Amino acid sequence: MNQIEDALSTFNSGVYVVSAKRGQEINGLTCTWVMRVSLDPVLVAVSVGKTRYTYDLIKEGGAFAVSVLADGQEDIGRFFGSASGRDTDKFAFYPHEAKATGAPILSGCAAWLDCKLLHSYDAGDHTLFVGEVVDAGVSGSPALIFKSSDFA
Ligand SMILES: Cc1cc2nc3c(=O)[nH]c(=O)nc-3n(C[C@H](O)[C@H](O)[C@H](O)COP(=O)(O)O)c2cc1C
Repeated sequence: MNQIEDALSTFNSGVYVVSAKRGQEINGLTCTWVMRVSLDPVLVAVSVGKTRYTYDLIKEGGAFAVSVLADGQEDIGRFFGSASGRDTDKFAFYPHEAKATGAPILSGCAAWLDCKLLHSYDAGDHTLFVGEVVDAGVSGSPALIFKSSDFA
């Protein structure tokens, strides 16, 4: 690793499954590049690679949900971060439910946010999707902290 990658690897983050719905189709991907970006209104941003299948669903569906993975959900992070919705129905393997926007939310997660897409910003090979939080919930389980060794 070079110095830039070494420096960036010191950032701490949670592990999130960002999901969306387009028509009857649902999908999601593991993301660590997720952050709050406004107090009022409450806005969150997720950085999604342009080649990801979920990218198209967020753009065309106009909404996304964020499931904050809980301690012990490393397997979900690994699965949603390696398989693609192009050839795998990832949500068929894990219980989930839909709230206001219809984007799927994983059962047993530490917390969830349901977001209406407000803005999309081009960011290199990713796009920063900014959403207004329209509903949310917390379970009381501690959130999973990202460690690259868990996902090697
Ligand atoms: C720990 C971890 C973190 C990841 N973080 C991101 C991220 O922040 N943004 C992103 O676009 N992809 C990220 N990925 C890669 C996607 O989750 C992966 O390419 C996924 O298979 C795409 O699924 P899709 O094609 O169904 O959308 C991450 C993967 C892992 C394992």
